[in-house]
Amino acid sequence: MFDRSIKIAPSILASDFANFGAECAAVEAQGADWIHVDVMDGHFVPAITFGAQTCKAIRPHIKTVMDVHLMIAPVDPYLEGFAEAGADVITAHVEAGPHIHRTLQTIRGLGCKAGVALNPGTPASAVEDLLEMVDLVCVMTVNPGFGGQKFIDMTAKIAALRQMIGDRPIHIEIDGGVDPTTAPLVASAGADVLVAGSAVFRGGSVADPAPYGANIAAIREAAKQS
Ligand code: DX5
Ligand code: ZN
Repeated sequence: MFDRSIKIAPSILASDFANFGAECAAVEAQGADWIHVDVMDGHFVPAITFGAQTCKAIRPHIKTVMDVHLMIAPVDPYLEGFAEAGADVITAHVEAGPHIHRTLQTIRGLGCKAGVALNPGTPASAVEDLLEMVDLVCVMTVNPGFGGQKFIDMTAKIAALRQMIGDRPIHIEIDGGVDPTTAPLVASAGADVLVAGSAVFRGGSVADPAPYGANIAAIREAAKQS
């Protein structure tokens, strides 16, 4: 069921890479609504993380939503692999190639929810002709490639997208630099899915997961008070 309530999506980019399964279970037990999985290729973005095989290994440890953010180019040859790995949402960047429309068609054709991501330098208008074929628009509030970067204010873009989307069942997701200080800004502009890496995982561990819960609650409370 689609709803616009605030959802917190911890990014496992900030978790222990030797322990993804347990990290996913720990943040879910501590209140995460979705799990955000950052795939980087060392080409579209500077860093390399992991691919579909790792997503498949993580999948059984996720009970909520596996939200796969592809920061790769090209995208199309790899989509089937991520769908087979069990992604619920697959998000591709509008900047990753000339045929985002085809990419989104393919994602839905594979039975997944389709997301489109916008880098900070890309205007809201880039998705105007894609709204009938997406389930999520991801507004990057950092330049993709690394966790722990400083938030870039995209409030005007988020508000423009919220208006453009109207009653369509499309989530607005924010990715990068989300913490209790920045969450109210993006939530009041119309975002409902808040990705957070460092602000969720800081201070905790699988052995001591309570800080994850406190961090998630702090972001959620801040967003609700917007
Ligand atoms: C950035 C990634 C983000 C990142 C967010 O390229 O797409 O998901 O992990 O990390 P924080 O919350 O630390 O900015
Ligand atoms: Zn991401």
